[in-house]
Formats: sequence, structure tokens, C-alpha cells
Amino acid sequence: MRVTGADLKEMKGRGELVPVLTAYDAPTARILDDAGIPVLLVGDSLGMVVLGYENTTRVSMEEMLHHTKAVVRASRTAMVVADMPFLSTTVSVEQSIENAARFIRDAGAQAVKVEGGERVVETARRIVDAGIPVMGHLGLTPQQVLNLGGYKVQGRSGEAAEQILKDALALERAGIFSIVLECIPAPLAKLITKSLAIPTIGIGAGPDCDGQVQVIHDILGLSDFFPKHVKLYARLGDAIKQAAKSYQEEVKNGQFPTEAHSFTMDESVIRYVEDQLAKDRQRTSDR
Ligand code: KIV
Repeated sequence: MRVTGADLKEMKGRGELVPVLTAYDAPTARILDDAGIPVLLVGDSLGMVVLGYENTTRVSMEEMLHHTKAVVRASRTAMVVADMPFLSTTVSVEQSIENAARFIRDAGAQAVKVEGGERVVETARRIVDAGIPVMGHLGLTPQQVLNLGGYKVQGRSGEAAEQILKDALALERAGIFSIVLECIPAPLAKLITKSLAIPTIGIGAGPDCDGQVQVIHDILGLSDFFPKHVKLYARLGDAIKQAAKSYQEEVKNGQFPTEAHSFTMDESVIRYVEDQLAKDRQRTSDR
């Protein structure tokens, strides 16, 4: 049985914090699921940390579906939330519902995440009405990076903070089960968290949210981008580089592979093949 939105709400009720991580591929999803992470977010950060795009506006529905399928296949208990990519929720409500449905029906996700406030409230309501759990996303919404002019902390002025709070309340009324708060001041995240019955999941939003989400590549030291809100839990980038150097050295100097990495064969078989080869050569030279 996978974790559900209702489970997350119960966790909030118990004061149990929710750890969320992104995952984009089967091996990572398997490891995170085994580690007990309750929610795996197939974020459109995929575009930047895996596919090498400059920002998330380049990520397509097909790319998100492809990676969501891998994460679903490799996980058993985590709730898999698929991020709805750039423009997939803005063209029309009908198109948005169909896009959301593809993540559930075709890819096997349990929920979708929709970026934005007022602009997406009606869309979120209609997706929920269609039977698809929705996670919201407010504050710094990376799909708006071209309008925002960069990755900046949001909600610092009274007006902007009030708008984020109003958006959060409107999205909750629309029926979403949880909401990501990205890069907003910690006191604002605390106020929003107190004002909502659904769990808030922070990233760069301080310690008072109901849960936290991080991009797996960032916390494992696989990114070349270190936002202030990231804490390194491992240095896998350095470990991979060191392993690649050792491999290169051993291949070049003949230390790898050894007999231990090779497969054996009965000597009579190889003698037979050599004999056949010699006979074939003889026949060719006799012609
Ligand atoms: O795309 C993503 O990974 C996200 C998280 C940072 C919340 O939206």
C-alpha cells in the first residue's frame, strides 16, 4: 500500500514531519523507497539536474512521463508525485486535466504537482474533481523564472506575502492535499503552515513547515549549483570522479580486469575452435 494524501494530513495532525525527496530514475527511486522516504517527487528539476537544460521551461510532458514511469516501477510504498511541466496547466482547463490524467493513467503516479497561485486555482479544483490528488507549489515557482528574472526569494514585502497566504488558502479550498513553499521567508512559511489544515512542504522556507523537500542531486553533491537552502549529506560527485580516475588508471595499466572479473571455458573447447580456424585457413589457401 502506498502513502496517500490522507496519510500526510494525519502526519500533520500528529506533528510528524514529512521528508520528501525528488527522484527521476529507477535505481534512485528504489533506494529512497527502501530508505522509507514517504513521498517521491518527480520534479521538473529533472530538466536541470538530469537532462542538462538551463531551466525547467524546456521540460516536456513526454520527458516527465518517461521518468515518472521509471520512478513508479521501482518504488513500492512511497507516494509518487509527478510535476506538471511548463505550459501543461495553462493552455486550458480541459488540456490540464488530460495532462494530469496521463501521469495517473499512463505513468502510474498517485498525484500531480501544479505550480502557481490564483492563476491555477480553478485548474487545480477541476483536476481534484476529476479524481486526481494535487500538490500545490507557491513562492518561487521556477516555471516563472523568465518573468521573475532569476531565482529570487519571494514574499518579502507585505503585499507579496499576503498574496502568497491568500493563494495558499484558495488552493486549500480548491481541494489540494499538500503544498510546496519554495524560497519564502521562514516567518511567512510558519504563518501559512499554521493557517492551513493541509501539510506545507518547504524548500528554502525554514524549519516550521510540516515537511521538507530537497532535490536529491543537490543533497548528494551531484549538482554544480548550491542554493543557500541546500545541505550536503554526501559528496557523490567527488566519489564518482575518484572512481572514474581509478578505473581509467587500472584499464590503462592492465590492472583491470583480472581473472576474478573474467569467465572461464573448458580448454578442449577453445582448442576445437582453434583447430576449426586453422582448417578454414588451410581450405582458403588451397583454393
Ligand atoms: O521540480 C522540483 O524538483 C520541485 C521541487 C524543488 C519542489 O519543484
